[in-house]
Amino acid sequence: MTDSSRPDNGRTDGPAPATSLTVRIDRERLWSNLMALKEIGGYDDAATGLRGVRRLALTDEDAEARGLVVEWMREAGLAVRVDRIGNVYGRREGTAPNLPCVLMGSHIDTVATGGAFDGTLGVLGAIEVVRALDAAGIRTRRAVEVGFFTEEEGVRFGTDMLGSAVTAGRIPLDHAHALTDAAGATVADELVRIGYHGPEPEIRPVPHAYIECHIEQGPILADAGVDIGIVTGVQAISWQRLTLDGAAAHAGTTPIDARHDAGLAAAEVVVEIRRMCESGEFGRLRGTVGNLTLDPAQTNVVPSRAVLTVDQRNPDDTLMTAAEKHLADFVATVGTRHGVTATWERMAKTNVVPFDTGVQDVIAAAADRLGHPYVKAVSGAGHDAQEIAATCPTAMVFVAGEHAGISHTPREYSRPDACGNGVDVLAEAILTLAERL
Ligand code: GLV
Ligand code: MN
Ligand code: MN
Repeated sequence: MTDSSRPDNGRTDGPAPATSLTVRIDRERLWSNLMALKEIGGYDDAATGLRGVRRLALTDEDAEARGLVVEWMREAGLAVRVDRIGNVYGRREGTAPNLPCVLMGSHIDTVATGGAFDGTLGVLGAIEVVRALDAAGIRTRRAVEVGFFTEEEGVRFGTDMLGSAVTAGRIPLDHAHALTDAAGATVADELVRIGYHGPEPEIRPVPHAYIECHIEQGPILADAGVDIGIVTGVQAISWQRLTLDGAAAHAGTTPIDARHDAGLAAAEVVVEIRRMCESGEFGRLRGTVGNLTLDPAQTNVVPSRAVLTVDQRNPDDTLMTAAEKHLADFVATVGTRHGVTATWERMAKTNVVPFDTGVQDVIAAAADRLGHPYVKAVSGAGHDAQEIAATCPTAMVFVAGEHAGISHTPREYSRPDACGNGVDVLAEAILTLAERL
């Protein structure tokens, strides 16, 4: 039985049967809020014919979404504060305010072609956990906090998990503030412009534990036929920008062997990355060139410049290092062959992050109590949890997605009951960590 009308839900009057140790979230409200938030930055996606979400960090759309989420936090009775990188926290006090809180959350920015669930499930789900605790009249010893972090996607300012990396102390605040978008706007100016350059120190009080509920964005849970995953860690992520400089020339008159074609060099790099992934030499490497621009971009001109992003993921740090080195050597060889110079720029790099086994066990026990089967999985995507893990015991709850978990496209979709099950598990685990009274 999983509905919130169960007769023993919310009992606080002394010892109760084992089944009453659970708390259930309001699934209808969770869903309707997910759907409402999706309309902020909503657009009609020509490629899929679906409604997508474009809510890049610190844009007007992000500001509007932040406003709505903060309103929901306040309605849930949370005391809201904003830090100097724009991370937002809402606090439900515990009976022992001096004890470190239990933190849950995620992000509400999206990629430019996003869906309704990536990040938002963890934030709106966390607010529902607070509301469920209130509805059940449950007091906890530790405070419970809901957080959302700035620029998790890294799409606008080039560094992913930015807000959580700053709060974890990995990226200095000044460095983060100085990052610019494609138009030259800085993070600091945009924080001020949208009213989220908060007064709170970016290094927050260390939580007792952090749990992030997030859609899986991959096929593991669907293949296993379960709604729930317990995340054991996150694989290494490397983002680099590669600029290849050759020489522009006339397309009709320049002999083939006299060209310094930056576009051709870029194409060879794209193909080599795919070969590396398929070769097995670098373990379970995944490599993607998601952005490739040519200059001067004219039909009848050999391109003088190619700029491409290289996204590599690997569950093994040593193999990631080997892949980066191999690609650098390959690019040097291609450059020599075509008379093209190469300049690498590091955008982001994180090593493999294992999650806390104790918190994983708490989540597993919660799923067991609720009767939700689960599998354990390593995350292929990056998450704020991998940064917060450097500060306190951390783990994640994954929720299965349809269409093999496809994400970062408007096709992203998780069933309402899968979302509800995941957030129920989050609630149950948070209740354990915060110590129900
Ligand atoms: C975050 O969404 C990532 O790129 O993994
Ligand atoms: Mn996400
Ligand atoms: Mn994402």
